Amino acid sequence: MGALHVLDHPLLQHKLSIIRDKNTSVKEFRELISEIATLMCYEATRDLPVEVCEVETPVAVATVKKIAGKKLAVVPILRAGLGMVDGMLTLVPSAKVGHIGLYRDPDTLEPVEYYCKLPKDISEREVYIVDPMLATGGSATAAIQFIKNYGCQHIKLMCIISAPEGLRRIQNDHPDVDIFVASVDEKLNDHGYIIPGLGDAGDRIFGTK
Ligand code: PRP
Ligand code: URA
Repeated sequence: MGALHVLDHPLLQHKLSIIRDKNTSVKEFRELISEIATLMCYEATRDLPVEVCEVETPVAVATVKKIAGKKLAVVPILRAGLGMVDGMLTLVPSAKVGHIGLYRDPDTLEPVEYYCKLPKDISEREVYIVDPMLATGGSATAAIQFIKNYGCQHIKLMCIISAPEGLRRIQNDHPDVDIFVASVDEKLNDHGYIIPGLGDAGDRIFGTK
């Protein structure tokens, strides 16, 4: 059964306060999205299985723990999810990276798929879907279903800012998926934007406003 993890760490909350600010530059916004992804990755990988083994230090044999079992894949939802990939790879540099291209139709708010390229062995990996924003949940639920259709059984969703509506949608559609967020905001506005949120994450990461 999946669980909702709201990561309430002072470093995360401080960085979040800066990316919410409309006066934050594209450069700083992009850097902070990546740093936040690293901090969230640290928490989201807390349950990775480890195995006990031995290594020789220069003076003795040490009993140590290494990560065992499943390998990881990071799957950003394009475009804004791209901003979180480097931050994830900082901690798990050998993870493979898949891409799912979805954009939200501005009128229907439904996700439209335009690209998908995943590692061949995705079904054998623990998959971390990343996207800074979880609004209606339409994009994330579609991305999760996509990955499930490839046979994946271990999926985690990491979003920086979420709306209650999106969380409910994922918990309803995919109760098996663990969700990690740094904030649960108040609500969505009539255009499907998160309130107070941070505006359009993709535009702010890539400077396309
Ligand atoms: C944003 C965001 C999510 C989606 C969230 O992407 O990055 O993917 O909206 O909204 P939802 O939960 O209602 O589906 P957008 O469609 O703006 O595309 P972009 O990343 O290319 O800017
Ligand atoms: N996508 C964004 O980038 N921001 C929102 O507030 C909602 C969807």
